[in-house]
Amino acid sequence: MISSLLHTKKNSDIVCVDISHNMLTYSPVPAVQANALSLPFQDESFDLIVAAAFFHHLPGMEGQLLNECYRILKPNGRLVGYDPSASCIQNNLFMRHNKLRLKVFSPDEKPILPERIRTQSLDAGFKQFNYFTFSFKNSKLTIFEFIQRYILAPFSFGPLKMFLDRWFFWEAVK
Ligand SMILES: C[S@@+](CC[C@H](N)C(=O)[O-])C[C@H]1O[C@@H](n2cnc3c(N)ncnc32)[C@H](O)[C@@H]1O
Repeated sequence: MISSLLHTKKNSDIVCVDISHNMLTYSPVPAVQANALSLPFQDESFDLIVAAAFFHHLPGMEGQLLNECYRILKPNGRLVGYDPSASCIQNNLFMRHNKLRLKVFSPDEKPILPERIRTQSLDAGFKQFNYFTFSFKNSKLTIFEFIQRYILAPFSFGPLKMFLDRWFFWEAVK
């Protein structure tokens, strides 16, 4: 869980939020069970929000999530996240396509177009948006991972990068 990585002795002022009580039992920091669409925090409470592999679990709700994050961030605060990219060919085939969709993906998750998050961030009031695409090696060598690692990743550079990298990291600045 991301709060385990962020939590240090110097950096202890952290709250972990999830809608699932079970998920929160793994949190080493104070945990709040809440729906991210309506967060129980006052306006301008936080310097940083980390949405770790989260936005793509609420497809179509990105605008509402961004509005809510914007509300609770302090001025110049930052929202960062990472999600599967809908520009990626593999994601389109195996996360989106009805017949080819792999069971390993939960029914709620859908890849997101980075440009969609950019447009909606700016609509929510964020003044700056940046992203970059990336892939990482999954330790479990499934067929999906095999294709990504050995057939697609070697070609993931230049103009092809955005179509072959599975993930994108993004940040929006208030
Ligand atoms: C892939 S996990 C994200 C991983 C997690 N952020 C971490 O740090 O490891 C997606 C999480 O989103 C949570 N979730 C789904 N819908 C939510 C909502 N409306 N509000 C808050 N959390 C939600 C799920 O319970 C699940 O734990």
